[in-house]
Amino acid sequence: MIDRCGRTIDYLRISVTDRCNLRCIYCMPENGVKLVERSQILREEEIIRISRVMAQLGITRIKLTGGEPLVHVRMPELVCQIKEIPGIKKVTLTTNGTLLKEQMKELAEAGLDAVNISLDTLNRDCFQKITRRDLLNEALEGIQEALRYPGISVKINCVPLGIEGQDLCEIAELARKYPVHVRFIEMMPIGCGMEFKGMSEEELTELLEKRFGSLTLYQGEPLGNGPSRYYEAQGFEGKLGFISAVSHKFCKDCNRIRLTSQGYLKTCLQYSAGKDLREIIRNGGTDEELTEAILEALEQKPDGHQFLEKAQADDTEKLCMSQIGG
Ligand code: GTP
Ligand code: 5AD
Ligand code: SF4
Repeated sequence: MIDRCGRTIDYLRISVTDRCNLRCIYCMPENGVKLVERSQILREEEIIRISRVMAQLGITRIKLTGGEPLVHVRMPELVCQIKEIPGIKKVTLTTNGTLLKEQMKELAEAGLDAVNISLDTLNRDCFQKITRRDLLNEALEGIQEALRYPGISVKINCVPLGIEGQDLCEIAELARKYPVHVRFIEMMPIGCGMEFKGMSEEELTELLEKRFGSLTLYQGEPLGNGPSRYYEAQGFEGKLGFISAVSHKFCKDCNRIRLTSQGYLKTCLQYSAGKDLREIIRNGGTDEELTEAILEALEQKPDGHQFLEKAQADDTEKLCMSQIGG
């Protein structure tokens, strides 16, 4: 699929649930968000059907995300079925890692290609402050378990808040000690994220270079589907990456669309422009109708976000990241 701006869209991010077992301060309010009724969430067969139509339209890579996708009961089965769809080359997962220890083996057997694990700190108190839960050990066990499968690429996602105890250099150390890429994600002004400033890429680079020496831009083969820019540091097994959607806007290279857990096809993280695919499916629509709706949605894909230009572009960004799928 090619959009109005000439961008090739071959990456679909599917949020399988809006539920999560953590409550990260920049992602979900203290008391959680109003959860969508289960009946409103796409069923497995609906996700598969949409994925199949998407593959026919040129989607080759699918990211499964949430909320926390592993609270969804049958993730390994879902991965396995999506992998079997002709045209789908890679199925990857973004998770907070706390439930990975128990599920990694089955996910690997199902054919998962890569896993991104969100981890903002190695400090237990700080983890509790950020996630409002005491599950650091579980997340670390999840990472260790993922590392037991050398065929599956492992990346760490860290949102640098710059708060006391966040030990960002210790997080970067993971890429020195292990074959994992550590990416620092700039805070995006979406939902609860609007209340935080986060740390800038420049501040962070200075901090990292002071500790690890100079970082050099990696220009080799792509290391994933997404917008991260990677750097190499002397003596590191993995790379250090930056996903800086605000300060280093990457929309001109956007290759993706998103499906929310309720089956709404969103053409941009910040905007609601898109189509309700669930409605079409549940009204007995055909694959041709789905195809038409997807192509119509694509026509509405914005050139890019307006995080800086406008404080609020439309209502979507009042949603939490857990409701959108990141
Ligand atoms: P890989 O490259 O395959 O590892 O995946 P990824 O970086 O696309 O996926 P991941 O789910 O780990 O996302 C990392 C961060 O990038 C999250 O905070 C996402 O919200 C953010 N991100 C992904 N796609 C977009 C996008 O289109 N726009 C913006 N602004 N942020 C995005
Ligand atoms: N800005 C940037 N990243 C965010 N994430 C959640 N909310 C925000 C935000 N407002 C991150 C999570 C996870 C990834 C999928 O998105 O920490 O790593
Ligand atoms: Fe859950 Fe991820 Fe949001 Fe944290 S950032 S509350 S782990 S969905």
